[in-house]
Order: sequence, then structure tokens, then C-alpha cells
Amino acid sequence: MSYFSPFLVNMDGDEHAAARRRLIGEFSIRKMTAFRPIISSIVREAMNDLLDQDPPADFVEHFSNAIPNQILSKLTGIPETDLIQVERNTQEMLHGTDTEEEQRIASDRLHAHLSDVVAAKAKAPSDDLLSRLISDSTDRKGAVDSFEIASVIQLLQVAGHASSSAMISLSLITLSEHPEQFEALRRNPRLIPSAVEELLRFLSITDTGPLRLAVDDVELDGYVIKSGEGMVIPTLPANRDGAYYDEPDTFDIARKPAHRHIAFGFGAHQCLGQNLVRIELEEVLSSIIHQSPSLRLYDSLDEISFRYFGQFFGPAELRVTWDR
Ligand code: HEM
Repeated sequence: MSYFSPFLVNMDGDEHAAARRRLIGEFSIRKMTAFRPIISSIVREAMNDLLDQDPPADFVEHFSNAIPNQILSKLTGIPETDLIQVERNTQEMLHGTDTEEEQRIASDRLHAHLSDVVAAKAKAPSDDLLSRLISDSTDRKGAVDSFEIASVIQLLQVAGHASSSAMISLSLITLSEHPEQFEALRRNPRLIPSAVEELLRFLSITDTGPLRLAVDDVELDGYVIKSGEGMVIPTLPANRDGAYYDEPDTFDIARKPAHRHIAFGFGAHQCLGQNLVRIELEEVLSSIIHQSPSLRLYDSLDEISFRYFGQFFGPAELRVTWDR
């Protein structure tokens, strides 16, 4: 049973290309560069909020989890409280139901809420992604297709929130586990862009993200993938391939060239949010080294508990401390 209009990840060929074209401009390098000051101020305010707490404080609650929804809210023009509600309703639909009937009820709740969000924006459009989706839908179909727009919002929330939050927390943990690299970054902030690429490669958090179906027989290294066979293309082994990288298991923030990893997948379905993620992580690292140079983990690695948030894994809580 399908609760959502297919969108991007489960589309193919011309249909996928047309849907992606309608959205890709919203995430272009030019647009994201213009959006950087807003991302920066969201990150800096989150850090101020963290530093206002009494240490030890939870980095996940006050920093990693706060940032992605606020950014998506500014980008889409959807109030943050509504995005949090979308996340709750989606989790309930995906993981909190046992029967098909319960799943249908949870899906109806998610759709009813998203229809309200779309209707509210249709009444008061502005210069934001949701308003543009609404006017594009009206131009193409003669009326607002709430079902389709709901799928776009839900996909952006699901693909963008837990992944970014996990990546922010895991970045702090990884740098803390490599103190000489952390120190090199503090001494030379110009390494931030290559540090972001290395964190993406080294962590490969969407390891099972890219999924493909062979439409023809394909021969790879003497092995034939038959037409119709499905494939999970894990990013971690590719990003740690010794034939491609020197010392692939070494974390090196000065690694060159930095961009060759496939942490965002590859080809037609490559991550739509990658320009946003890069800037977000650059601002996060900049905030950590400039706003809070003494920030450090409070617990040792084996005391931190990790869990899966859908596809991505990260710490459920991450206690940090700093000098006041
Ligand atoms: C650290 C954060 C992120 C990582 C590592 C990541 C990684 C990925 C990967 C591996 C894929 C599958 C690519 C493929 O099949 O080749 C993907 C797809 C996608 N990502 Fe991300 N992502 C992240 C954050 C985001 C954000 C913030 C957004 C948007 C707000 C986003 C939107 C999407 C969308 C819409 C797709 C589907 C694209 C399509 O099928 O055409 N992602 N991402």
C-alpha cells in the first residue's frame, strides 16, 4: 500500500529528471552561498544556547538537533514547530505502528497536518520554497496538488534532518578522537572545507543510501548483475577503497583531492542537499573552533550510546563540557 505520492527517490528516468529539475535550483551552489549568512547565524545562535547551559550539557539537544530543522524552516518557509510535527508523525507512521490499520491512521494524521501546512502557505505566500512549489503545482496542474507537495516536504525532512544532526555530532566525536587533527584545524581554519570532505568520506553515514535496480545485464569485474536485480551500493567500502585512497582508514583532514568520495551517492539520484550540507558543516566546524575553543566530550567513547535514526546512526545524547 502506498501512503505517499512517489517522489525522487522512488522515481526513474524522465519522470525523475523532471521532478528533480523543479527542485534542484532551490539547492544550487549560488542559492546556498547566498543563504550562508542565515545558516551561519542559526549555527552561532545554537552554540550560544549550548554555552548558556551549565556544563556538562547535551550537544545533541542544544546543537546538532536544533540546527537542521531551523535551516529547513528558513529555506521552506514552514514554521519549525510544523517540521517537528512532521518528524514525529513520520516516525510514528514508520516505526510506531504494528498493523496496516494503525499505519493508515498514522499516515492520515501526517497528511492532514501537511495539507494544513500547505493550505496556510497558499493563503499567505512568500519568497520561499513551499510558496514556489505551490505556484508551480498550480501552473502545471491547474490546482494545488497537496498530496505531491506533502511528499516533497516529508522527503526533505526525512532526508535532511536526522542525517545532518548525526553528521554534526559524529564530526565532533571524530575530531575529539583525533586530537592532533582537531588541533591542526584550530591552528589553521583554512582546512575547514577539506575537513568537511574528509568527515563525509571517513564517516559515510548513509552507507546503505544508494539503491538501484539493474535495467539491463551489467558486467562488473567479471560478475554479472542481471536485469531486474536490486542493489544496495554501500558507500563506506567505496570511500575506504585502498585501490583509490592512500591509507584509507586514516582520518586526515588535509587529504587531497578532498572531493572524490561518494558519501552523497552518485549519478542521477545524487544527494540534492549536498551544497547545503557542505556549508552547514563548514559553519559548524567554524563555530566549534572559534566560538568555543575549549569544547570537549564529557564522556569517553565507550560511555556514549549510539542508535539508528531511520537509516543514519548517531549518538542519542552527547554530553560536552568547556571552560567558562
Ligand atoms: C550529512 C547529510 C547528508 C548525507 C550524507 C546525504 C546523503 C545522501 C545519499 C547517499 C543519497 C542517495 C544518493 C544516491 O542514491 O546516489 C541522498 C539522496 C537525497 N538527499 Fe541527501 N544526504 C544528506 C543530507 C541531505 C539534506 C540536508 C537534504 C535536503 C534538505 C537531502 C536531500 C536528499 C534528497 C532529496 C535525496 C534524493 C535525491 C534523488 O533521488 O534524486 N539530503 N542523500
